[in-house]
Amino acid sequence: MSLLTAATAVRENAYAPYSRFKVGAAIRATSGTVYTGCNVENVAYPEGTCAEAGAIAAMVAAGETRIADILVIADSPAPVPPCGGCRQKIAEFAAQDVMVTLCTTAGASMAITVAELLPGVFNAAHMAHIDGSA
Ligand code: THU
Repeated sequence: MSLLTAATAVRENAYAPYSRFKVGAAIRATSGTVYTGCNVENVAYPEGTCAEAGAIAAMVAAGETRIADILVIADSPAPVPPCGGCRQKIAEFAAQDVMVTLCTTAGASMAITVAELLPGVFNAAHMAHIDGSA
């Protein structure tokens, strides 16, 4: 199944009564398996979760931790960009050259790399002083 088809389908299940902004995300893990997620809002607004976070959680729950390809779709005027928190979440599980495809339900899309999505990413190398002996 294509990531576009998968993300478009899961977006229909988004629970977004507060923003009325439904988002779908689909990840192809390095095994080839596709994992999907949608945004799930809450009346306590900060407790809501993004579509990307849902797809990542599904991937990790299935025992996989490497993203080969990821696509996000929403009914937005321009291809929907992941929020800052989701950029860091994606970077945790994807190489810098992995493509992130941003789509609108109207058919527009753009593709950028993880490196372009989150320049100056905080990663484990920034904690190189931690040697585990403490
Ligand atoms: N949202 C996502 O799920 N992913 C994005 O990339 C952008 C924003 C959700 C969060 C919230 O439920 C709604 O869209 C409005 O911000």
